[in-house]
Amino acid sequence: MQKLTVALAERSYPIYIGSGLISHSLLSPHIKARQVMVVTNETVAPLYLEQLKQGLVGHQVDVVTLPDGEQFKNLEHLDRIFTALLSHRHNRTTTLIALGGGVVGDMTGFAAASYQRGVEFIQVPTTLLSQVDSSVGGKTGVNHPLGKNMIGAFYQPQAVIADTSVLSSLPSRELSAGLAEVIKYGLIYDPRFFEWLEQHMEGLRAGDEQLLAQAIHRSCEIKAEVVAEDERETGIRAWLNLGHTFGHAIETEMGYGNWLHGEAVGAGTMMAADLSMRLGWLKQQDVDRIRAILVAAGLPVLPPDSMSAERFCELMSVDKKVLDGQLRLVLLKSIGEATVTDQFPAALLQQTLSAGKLLGQITNT
Ligand code: NAD
Ligand code: GLY
Repeated sequence: MQKLTVALAERSYPIYIGSGLISHSLLSPHIKARQVMVVTNETVAPLYLEQLKQGLVGHQVDVVTLPDGEQFKNLEHLDRIFTALLSHRHNRTTTLIALGGGVVGDMTGFAAASYQRGVEFIQVPTTLLSQVDSSVGGKTGVNHPLGKNMIGAFYQPQAVIADTSVLSSLPSRELSAGLAEVIKYGLIYDPRFFEWLEQHMEGLRAGDEQLLAQAIHRSCEIKAEVVAEDERETGIRAWLNLGHTFGHAIETEMGYGNWLHGEAVGAGTMMAADLSMRLGWLKQQDVDRIRAILVAAGLPVLPPDSMSAERFCELMSVDKKVLDGQLRLVLLKSIGEATVTDQFPAALLQQTLSAGKLLGQITNT
């Protein structure tokens, strides 16, 4: 087992990474009283709930099982968590445990942030995406029909327990979606990690647990460093949103759940790379490497054919990085170095937004 720390003074917490950790006795030291509410979903519960309960002997364990899907990451389904907590009389010393992917983790964290003005929670992420990204850093929340992740709070967990063995049951499309966020870390922060990913993508996609553990460790290390420096995203943390402004627009337009978050980030990363090249920062060979690694990871590199440049602009204008009406984007100065900027000619952005569509039409004929 490997252990990392997210260093946030009195809100610091450990990330444990290893095989078979779910049923291990790691949970108990992070639970302060008797009551525990496990939040999971109808896919993950039959796979891992009993294993998790083995580490909770001696506690009052209640469970709320949500329907599975990004389309249920909303206020209506968040209310089910509050109803379960109230009907089982959970008080302020309760601990919530998120057992599932990023959807369950984001919703559980937000429920913990707001139930009785804040109770503790633990992340037990079960997808690659949630192990490398969403369980770490304290962004919690739900979607709104008008925008992705628009209702939420920054609220840190007590611990993150990433059991790499659970990834063996993950569908390969979901593994690919997680790889989009792993690739992101190389692109924004660590060119050597990007090269390592280029060399090992085949094994990672095949689900090699050792390789996945290494990728999770480096990803969490980078995320922990970035979050420790900028918890509330006033600066460098925005880099973690490479490809996300384009990606969130795709997710909202296509209907939550139709394009997986990681797939939308994959196509969005390619669009960010395209604009970075138009600005003279990336070279053609960099863009080719980025396209190649995304393709090798099984990710889309083009936005949906049906999405116009105008629609992108409309949806991107509600992004959380918009300041004073000015769109800001995370772009790449080179492979391994990101920047957040509003300094790009509108005409170049238009070219990027239309280039994907044109390329898509060529590819699809
Ligand atoms: P998800 O939670 O929908 O999980 C993907 C699918 O895998 C679901 O069907 C789930 O039931 C299933 N599943 C989970 N674990 C499994 C396992 N071990 N075996 C088999 N099936 C399993 O999606 P996700 O990709 O984990 O997370 C995406 C969400 O995370 C999005 O809502 C996104 O906005 C959010 N996100 C949040 C942050 C953050 O910082 N908070 C960062 C990135 C993404
Ligand atoms: N996934 C982006 C962030 O945590 O900031």
